[in-house]
Amino acid sequence: EWKLASRTAVNMGISDDWPGYSLDLFSYPAHYSGDLDCVIIPHGVIMDRTERLARNIMDELGDHDIVVLCVLKGGYQFCADLVDRIKALSRNSNHTIPMRVHFIRLKSYLNDQSTEDLHILGAEDLSFLAGKAIVGTGKTMKTLLKHVEAFGPKMIKVAGLLVKRVPHSSACVPDYVGFEIPNRFVVGYALDYNEYFRDLNHICVISESGKLKYKI
Ligand code: HPA
Ligand code: MG
Repeated sequence: EWKLASRTAVNMGISDDWPGYSLDLFSYPAHYSGDLDCVIIPHGVIMDRTERLARNIMDELGDHDIVVLCVLKGGYQFCADLVDRIKALSRNSNHTIPMRVHFIRLKSYLNDQSTEDLHILGAEDLSFLAGKAIVGTGKTMKTLLKHVEAFGPKMIKVAGLLVKRVPHSSACVPDYVGFEIPNRFVVGYALDYNEYFRDLNHICVISESGKLKYKI
């Protein structure tokens, strides 16, 4: 059922049977011990991949003024790091890109479940590049695009750090994808479970006891 957009044909997928790294291999906040099953993407790998996405974005959008739309809250870390890498690349070339950064807030998850109601708060102006941390069903992204299109931007590109391999997902795939991951609930690198785990650097799979502990 899962179709990868042609542009993402390169294999940056994490397969469904990948058990992840043992938590013992890395350091992580002690207050989360027992709450996690494994590390699926260590922080350093996220940063390395983000650097490459920044390069791809520079190559393709480098002739435009870019309005970055950071999708809060889960996207704040990815967006900040991506903008940072783009800034570094333009510093090191003879060609700088003017970037404005806006923030939009989306919330559709309670516990680990997608809810029907999607809240959009504080959107303004026009935008080119939306930085979102995770794309599951694609439903949220579709709503976001419809909303952003109303401002009449010249071009809209979406950068998503993670895309989940969800059966029957809409064909809505970001233009720039960091990693394709199994359909499991992940936390860390600003991704939360009821606001917890944003203070974890690595992207991890939450454990069943972790879900219980922070359930509301
Ligand atoms: N983790 C955190 N937030 C999310 C996820 C996830 O796996 N999927 C959609 N929002
Ligand atoms: Mg969330």
